[in-house]
Amino acid sequence: MLEIKSFTENDYQVMSDIENSVFTDDPYSAESNRQDDTNRPSHIKHQRLVAWLEGKAVAYGHYTQDIGQYHPQRFRLWVVVRPEYQRQGIGSKLWASLLEALQPHDPIGFISNTREDKNGLAFLKANGFTEKMRTWENRIAVPEFDALPYAHLAAELELQGIQILNLEQVLSFENAKQKYYQLKQDTSLDVPRAYPATERGYDDFLKWNLESPKVLFKGTFLAVQNGELIGLSQLFKTDGEHLNIGLTGVRREARGKHIALALKVACLEWAKTNGYPEIRTWNDSNNLPILALNTKLGFQQCPAWIECIKELSGGNP
Ligand SMILES: CC(C)(COP(=O)(O)OP(=O)(O)OC[C@H]1O[C@@H](n2cnc3c(N)ncnc32)[C@H](O)[C@@H]1OP(=O)(O)O)[C@@H](O)C(=O)NCCC(=O)NCCS
Repeated sequence: MLEIKSFTENDYQVMSDIENSVFTDDPYSAESNRQDDTNRPSHIKHQRLVAWLEGKAVAYGHYTQDIGQYHPQRFRLWVVVRPEYQRQGIGSKLWASLLEALQPHDPIGFISNTREDKNGLAFLKANGFTEKMRTWENRIAVPEFDALPYAHLAAELELQGIQILNLEQVLSFENAKQKYYQLKQDTSLDVPRAYPATERGYDDFLKWNLESPKVLFKGTFLAVQNGELIGLSQLFKTDGEHLNIGLTGVRREARGKHIALALKVACLEWAKTNGYPEIRTWNDSNNLPILALNTKLGFQQCPAWIECIKELSGGNP
């Protein structure tokens, strides 16, 4: 008999095992999931559930809220079912339990996402969701990256008084953490999302961008002009062998000068020097300039992540 149970302290490994049975190319550890729980701001409502069949954990689900596009009554839903237990109605039962658990919070709408090769789009459509946007995942085999064609970039930027420095160097500046926060805040407002962007708090920024064990202080690069930060490209460790690019952003007034290109090249060179095999990055499918830039650098397009939404009647989009 299928039993849906609340998540306990003992379930972090169970949850990672289920996730990793489906996303075999993107491991996420129990420790990282635990860290997510520790770092989550207190205003974010969140609950995890596990589905058990004859004593075996077969599916995992949660509801949560997006910090960067926050609305107190809008929730992000997620379910994942072990491949050998899919198409038996288990995902639907877990989904129904999440919706029931959400009722006291009076939701006005939901967001969910899926990777196009993982059967989730049909599931979400069957649950009344519509597609809102797609994000391409792009991967590059770092050892094959050739930095030579871009060797002139740094000197050209220097002539305009712009330097590319790593995060460790930038942290020696006065008010560096505040400046880094403000740069990330300002540039991330332009990242396409399903709903209007909302500001993230400074403490939340510190946890993910400076205190997390995944931060690479020498592999994250910033563009600096007259002591001010005008661009960034963040590189993070993962639970796999690959690295992930976080945000690449350039202040609006500094765009069109190849700063983003120089920052990405710096990340790639650092990763190559340090023996990493692969870097992954995610970009909105409509963001043609950044997709062109990635292709030029040698990134290969992988299955898209599809963001879906469902508004309940009476909800404000
Ligand atoms: C999406 C997922 C959770 C579905 O779990 P599941 O237990 O297999 O889903 P169910 O058996 O409850 O399916 C419910 C309905 O969804 C649709 N559906 C689910 N999987 C489908 C598939 N592979 N192909 C076509 N339709 C599918 C069907 O309409 C299905 O009803 P039906 O079987 O009567 O036709 C599972 O495929 C999965 O873990 N995918 C990876 C994670 C993910 O993408 N999650 C996204 C949603 S948050």
